[in-house]
Amino acid sequence: MSMFSMAANHSIRPVQEDIIFGMGAMAEEAIRDKGFKRVINATIGALLDDDGKLVTFHSVFEVLKGLSDQQIAAYAPLSGMPEYIKYAIEATFMGYRPNGFIDGVATPGGSGAIRHAIWNYTDAGDKILTSDWFWEPYQTMASEHMRKIVTYELYDEEMNFNLESFEKSLGDLLDEQKRALVMLNTPAHNPTGYSLSNSEWMKLREILIEFSKDQENKIILFIDVAYLDFCNDEEREFFKLLSNLPKNILVLISFSMSKGYTFYGLRSGALLGVSSDEDIIREFKNVCSYSNRGVWSNGTRAAMETLIEIYKNDNIRKKVFEERAKHKQILKERAETFIQSAKEAGLAICRYKGGFFISIPHDDPMRLAEKLTEKDVFVVPLEKGLRFAVCAVSLEKCKSAPALIKEMMESLK
Ligand SMILES: Cc1ncc(COP(=O)(O)O)c(C=O)c1O
Repeated sequence: MSMFSMAANHSIRPVQEDIIFGMGAMAEEAIRDKGFKRVINATIGALLDDDGKLVTFHSVFEVLKGLSDQQIAAYAPLSGMPEYIKYAIEATFMGYRPNGFIDGVATPGGSGAIRHAIWNYTDAGDKILTSDWFWEPYQTMASEHMRKIVTYELYDEEMNFNLESFEKSLGDLLDEQKRALVMLNTPAHNPTGYSLSNSEWMKLREILIEFSKDQENKIILFIDVAYLDFCNDEEREFFKLLSNLPKNILVLISFSMSKGYTFYGLRSGALLGVSSDEDIIREFKNVCSYSNRGVWSNGTRAAMETLIEIYKNDNIRKKVFEERAKHKQILKERAETFIQSAKEAGLAICRYKGGFFISIPHDDPMRLAEKLTEKDVFVVPLEKGLRFAVCAVSLEKCKSAPALIKEMMESLK
């Protein structure tokens, strides 16, 4: 018997429980039953302290709480406050601003930026290219807008960026569509923690330039830098390589206040565009501003005002950077501890260079994740393995988890 439905045809989608939230709920239950100390909840994609409490940057919230009611309550301009865009550009590139025309449009977090890139730079039914390890919501956002995700292999045999697979997949896509939106999540990729090296960036640039020689090709390189603020400043060096590209290569970059300012729920970010052609950037600003009006109108003014205050005032900015640096160090130590313990336990992990997550390849991730709950270890099963959130787990737990994962992996053989 078919089920009666009121939803439009395109909105009838498989009802799936969100795996991340599902696993998280199981972890919460275990914590209630057995106590926080005994449970390793590595499902959460936010920075937590050793007691499992969400880290919030006091220096940032002090600014937010000092805003006037009007600064918080007023609408922001449709494309975002101009000063906010200016500082979002500055915060993203720091000393590594590429040459070219640059502008931006405010969005609700990096997610809003991804949405605008998908909608404005691909056509209905198009395929979008990303790596085979990817942040699952890319899939949801693509299908929400009637696009599909296709993938290249992230790693080659030496666990470096698989340029060959990238080149082949991009070539195939351009042959088919003449337009390719590439979603590249680097540095500090979610879920693996991989970052392209500068030499990989240079080769990737050459590949893009080669494809751009066919004047009919349109290449849109979307760089998702959600975890950029938890990398070293020098890791922004690749931005310089985005200078002076042919006009049929448009670079889009997402700015987000979620992680770098602990403003996850305040929903503020921006989509930035970089091009050697002024008209392309004017068009970018127009199409994305139109989308803002058409989807969510305008963004969260209080968050924009906060960024402006931070960047206008050297002392406040210094305080924010210092507070962030402290947590960056904690994250680094947790990740290093996990990697060292994995080595000692003989647990193979994906090559990690930075960020909130470490991934463990496995051919039956669901079963392994379930098995791990017997040891009170909660992780997120992905298509190609497990995601362990070092951002959410104490050093002590980062040390003990790899051996437990290895043990449960062996028990499944
Ligand atoms: C890879 C990646 N991109 C984008 C985002 C978007 O986050 P937000 O919309 O909160 O900026 C996230 C958040 O977890 C992420 O992991």
